Order: sequence, then structure tokens, then C-alpha cells
Amino acid sequence: MNNPEVVIIGAGAAGLMCAIEAGKRGRRVLVLDHANKAGKKILMSGGGRCNFTNYSVEPENYLSQNPHFCKSALSRYTQWDFLAFINRYQIPYHEREHGQLFCDRSAKDIVNMLLSECDHHGVEVRLRCKILKVQRKEQSGFSLTTDGGSIDAEKLVVATGGLSIPKMGATPFGYRLAEQFGISVIATRAGLVPFTWREEDKVKFAGLSGIAVPAVVSHAGKHFRENVLFTHRGLSGPAILQISSYWRSGETIEINLLPDLDLIEDLKKRRDRHANVKVKTLLTHVLPKRLVQALVNETLLELTLQNCADRHLKEIGAQLNHWVLKPNGTEGYRTAEVTVGGVDCNAVSSKTMESRRVQGLYFVGEVLDVTGWLGGYNFQWAWASGWCAGQFV
Ligand code: FDA
Repeated sequence: MNNPEVVIIGAGAAGLMCAIEAGKRGRRVLVLDHANKAGKKILMSGGGRCNFTNYSVEPENYLSQNPHFCKSALSRYTQWDFLAFINRYQIPYHEREHGQLFCDRSAKDIVNMLLSECDHHGVEVRLRCKILKVQRKEQSGFSLTTDGGSIDAEKLVVATGGLSIPKMGATPFGYRLAEQFGISVIATRAGLVPFTWREEDKVKFAGLSGIAVPAVVSHAGKHFRENVLFTHRGLSGPAILQISSYWRSGETIEINLLPDLDLIEDLKKRRDRHANVKVKTLLTHVLPKRLVQALVNETLLELTLQNCADRHLKEIGAQLNHWVLKPNGTEGYRTAEVTVGGVDCNAVSSKTMESRRVQGLYFVGEVLDVTGWLGGYNFQWAWASGWCAGQFV
């Protein structure tokens, strides 16, 4: 394509969706990506099965400095719209817990669907293309310098995603481009990411690697009830990934390892009936032994219930119902699923995704300061924001 009207940088979920919609409107669309394949993150997502959306999508499932921004796009292109798209291509899928929807076969089904739609609507997807410079033209439009020559376009869509998994081609390109045009970027950090141990905790807990327990993890007024997984490096599992998006360096999190049991009350009741039973025996009925030993002081564990004073019960209850942990940090972008922060939503129209400051410049997907929970919410944001921009570019 020699004279595209719309250039989209990033052949990921949001960029391809935007391209399809603009293509449907008869626009000449060129998608550029430096990677050797389109939709790499889609392919690796959900363990290769892509958790492409969720039966229940609400603005509350997203983090942003402007929590209202995502509402418009999410209500105009919903999970039902994406399901209709999937159904049109007869892609088999299934529901897992919390309404999460995954492909039955492979995430390839989604990428193939997006690429065939691009093809059908005359969209060109150009891979292995390095963008060296972007400039605004004098009258209107943009001029891009690439390693394959220069390209002019009336509209430019930035769909370069976040910083997670640099090995897969993630770059800060979108943020730098925004800054180049005077558009502010909310400070970024890794989200949906495992925590690492502090040195003193590593000594105590690294040996628990492989243990997974259902728990409620809380921080900043948010609570997630799902599994917590102990690893050599720290804590992982869905409950931890969810809370990590709300966590900032230096803060603590609270973990209730027995969310269905008020341990103090339970032990008090049992104290009357099972006076000679050791605390250890009771606790190892409800939690893995190694975990109990790592968290509860050995002297307490060896007490029989009749020797367990209320203050002892309180101590045990605090450790297991209200375990307060200060992570050392996170594993960072190397393993994070998303980037929290990004292009300031206040600088972009929630209807069109166009920059308020620079006419013809659009931002879609994860590059924006909209971050979804684990569970298909990030893809739904990519589809919805890409779809909206596609109606206007
Ligand atoms: P995306 O990252 O998909 O695409 C950006 C594109 O821009 C890439 O193709 C990249 O190569 C290109 N690009 C970047 N810099 C460039 C440059 N300088 N020049 C040219 N091209 C450039 N979400 C979800 O809802 N369900 C799930 O199951 C998962 N699972 C999951 C697993 C893992 C391991 C990760 C890392 C992430 C997830 N996610 C997820 C998150 C989800 O993948 C993510 O939010 C979306 O892919 C974002 O879509 P975008 O199109 O915005 O960016």
C-alpha cells in the first residue's frame, strides 16, 4: 500500500481491531509492527488458550487515574459483541471460573480470525518494520520514517501496548511518542505480577515453593479471593497477581489464609472440647503442615489447647487470618502481564480515542492508562478501545 489514509503502529489486539473497523469503513489502512508475527501476546496469553473476554465486564474491573474513561468504550463494544465475532468464525470456547472465557483449541484461532478480517477489509499488516521517526506534517497528518522508507498518513493510531515481556517486543514507543507531542503519561509500573521475598522472608518461606492455598488477599480497600502460590522467589497465583496491580513499593498486603474460618473463635470452641489436642494437630488439618510451621511460632504449635491462653490464640489468629506481608518488590516487566499507568486518559477523547491536543493522533489498548484485572479484562479493553477508534479514524 503506497498511500494509506490510516497508519496503525502495533499489530496486537487493539491495533488489529481498530484496523478491521477502519477497513470496514473503506479506509486504506496500513498496520506496522516491528515484530516478526502479529498478535504475539494474544498467542502467549492464557497459557496459549487466550482468555479473550469475561461474561461480566464492569468499569470496576479496571484501574486508571480517570476511572470514568473506560466506561464509554466498554459500553459501546461489549463482551457480547466480541462473542458474536468469535461465533461468526465458529471458534469454540469455554467458561472457566469467574466468567473467564478461553479458546477450546488455541489462541491462534483469535489471531487467525483478526488477520482474516484484516485481509477481507483490505488492511495491510507490515511486519518487521522499524519506526525511526514520527513527525507532524505542516497542514495535517503525519510523516513516518521507517527502515523501509517514509510513509505519510492522515491519521495515526498508536497501539503499541505496555512494557510487559520485553522479550516479546514490548517497547516504550507509545509513551515516548505521546511525550514528543506534549501528551502526559502517567508513571508506569508492572501489574498482574508476582511478588518477591525480602531476604528475611526468603529464609522462612522459599522452602514452601509449590504450595498453593485458597486465600483472600487485601490491599488498598481491594480484596481478591483466589489461590496464593508460594514460589522460590516469592508469592504468585491469581490472588497475588490481582492485588499486585494496586500495590506500590514499600506497602504491605494482608493475607487471610483461612477465609472461611475465624480461627480465634474456632480454637476457643475447640479448647473446651479437645483440651489435650495440640495446636499443631488442629492447624495441620486445615493448612499444609510446612506452611503452618513457617508461619506460627514453634512454641505455640506445641501447646495443647488447654494451655493456650487467649493471647496465644490471638497471636495464631493474627498470623493465619491476618498475615501482614511486606513484599520486597515485584518480578517486574519480565513476567508481568500488564503495565499499570500509561498515556493520560484525560488527554484523550473517550468517544474517539483521539488526542485532545493533536488532531489525527489516536491511542488504543494497553498504551493508555487503563489496566484490567486478571480474567480477560485487558483483551476486552483492547477490543473495545480499538473498535471505538476504528469508527473515527
Ligand atoms: P499488544 O501488546 O497486544 O500489542 C502491541 C503491539 O505493538 C505488539 O505487536 C508489538 O510488537 C508492537 N510494538 C511495540 N513497540 C513497537 C515499536 N516500537 N514499533 C513497532 N511495533 C511495536 N489479557 C487478557 O485479557 N487475557 C489473558 O489471558 C492475558 N494473558 C496474558 C499473558 C501474558 C503472558 C501477557 C504478557 C499478557 C496477557 N494479557 C492477557 C494482557 C494482554 O495481552 C494485553 O493487555 C493486550 O495484548 C494489550 O493489547 P494491545 O494491542 O494494547 O498491545
